[in-house]
Amino acid sequence: MKFILTTSQGIEDLAKREVEMLIEKAGLKGKAEEKPFGVEGRITADIEKGYYFDEKGKKREFEIASFLNENSRLLHRVILRISSTRLTSLEKEKALQEIYDFVLNTPIEKYVKVSESFAVRSFRKGEHEFTSVDVAKTVGSAIYDKLSQFGMPRVNLDHPSVIFRAEVINDVFFLGIDTTGDSSLHKRPWRVYDHPAHLKASIANAMIELAELDGGSVVDPMCGSGTILIELALRGYGGKIIGIEKYKKHLKGAKMNALAAGVLDRIDFIHGDATKLSHYLDSVDFAISNLPYGLKIGKKSLIPELYMEVFNELSKVLEKRGVFLTTEKKAIEKAFEENGFTVIHHRIVGHGGLMVHLYVIK
Ligand SMILES: C[S@@+](CC[C@H](N)C(=O)[O-])C[C@H]1O[C@@H](n2cnc3c(N)ncnc32)[C@H](O)[C@@H]1O
Repeated sequence: MKFILTTSQGIEDLAKREVEMLIEKAGLKGKAEEKPFGVEGRITADIEKGYYFDEKGKKREFEIASFLNENSRLLHRVILRISSTRLTSLEKEKALQEIYDFVLNTPIEKYVKVSESFAVRSFRKGEHEFTSVDVAKTVGSAIYDKLSQFGMPRVNLDHPSVIFRAEVINDVFFLGIDTTGDSSLHKRPWRVYDHPAHLKASIANAMIELAELDGGSVVDPMCGSGTILIELALRGYGGKIIGIEKYKKHLKGAKMNALAAGVLDRIDFIHGDATKLSHYLDSVDFAISNLPYGLKIGKKSLIPELYMEVFNELSKVLEKRGVFLTTEKKAIEKAFEENGFTVIHHRIVGHGGLMVHLYVIK
C-alpha cells in the first residue's frame, strides 16, 4: 500500500525516520521516501500489507493507516495514495482540464464503494492562476463522473464517509484518500488552552528528537502553553521535566493542557522569568524552547536584549544541549556567541507561514 504523509517543511527527514521505525515496530515491511517529486513537507511510504489473527482466530488485515494515525508524533496527515503526476501546464484552463482527465482515468472505483458519500478537500501551494477551490471542484466532478459509470455517487461536503485529498504543489498533483479526517494530527486533543503563539506538536517532537535526550533533566524556560513539555511527557520520558513561564495566564493554560493530556504530575511548572533562570535551577541537562519572536510579543526591539539575558542565564545552568526555535537569527546567534555556546546543528522549519530557524547548541 502506498501512502502520502504530510508534515511540516524542514522536518521530513525526522518524520521519515519515525515512519520507518513505526513500520518496523508493527512487524511490517516497507520503506519511506522524503520529499517525493522534490515536494517539501511530504513523505511517501510503500508498506506491504500485514495480517493478524483476531481473538476468534479469524485472519484480519492490519490497519496500517490507523496505526500511523494513532502512533505518529511528527505527521500531520496519513493519505492513502491513489495517484500522482506532474502537470504539463500551470495555465488555468489547461491545468484544470489535465487534472480532470487524469482523475477520470484513475480507477477510483477500486478505492471506494460507489454507495459511500464523499467529499474532496484540496490543498494548493505555489504560483498558479487557479485556486484550491477550483482544484476541489474539478477533482470532485471527475470523481463523480468516474463513479457514475458504476452507480449513483453521493456527495456530502459536511459529513462524508470518504475524504479525497487533492493537492497541487507547484507542478505536482497528488490524489489520495485522507485517512486522518478533517482535523490534522498536529492539532492535539489535549490542547484546551490555545496560546496565541503555540508551537505545532509535530515541530515540538522534531525538537525533542534533535535534542538527543539521555534521560537527564529538561527545561523549557519560556514554555507558553507547555507544548514541548507535554509532548515530551507523553512520550514517556523518564527524566525531570520543568517549565517556566512569565505570564500567569499562559502558565495556568499550560497546566490545564497538561491535565487534559494526563501528564500534569510529570511536569514542574514554575511561574518565573527566564532572565532569572539560575534563581530557580542550579543545573539542568537540556533546554528546549520556542522563543518569543516576531510581532506576537509586541515590542520586537526588546528581543536582542531578552535573548542575551536568557542565554547568559543558560550559560550558568545548562550542562548538555539546547534546542531553540526563532525567526530572530541575528539576535540569537549573537546571544550564543557572547555566552560561549556553539551551534552544532541548524535547519529551517516552516511554522505558521514563516520560515523559522532551529538551532541545536552545546
Ligand atoms: C513563542 S511562545 C512559546 C509557546 C509555546 N512553545 C507553546 O507551544 O505554547 C513564548 C513564550 O515566552 C513567554 N515569555 C516571554 N518572556 C519571558 C520571560 N522573560 N520569561 C519567561 N517566559 C517568557 C511568553 O509569555 C510566551 O508564552
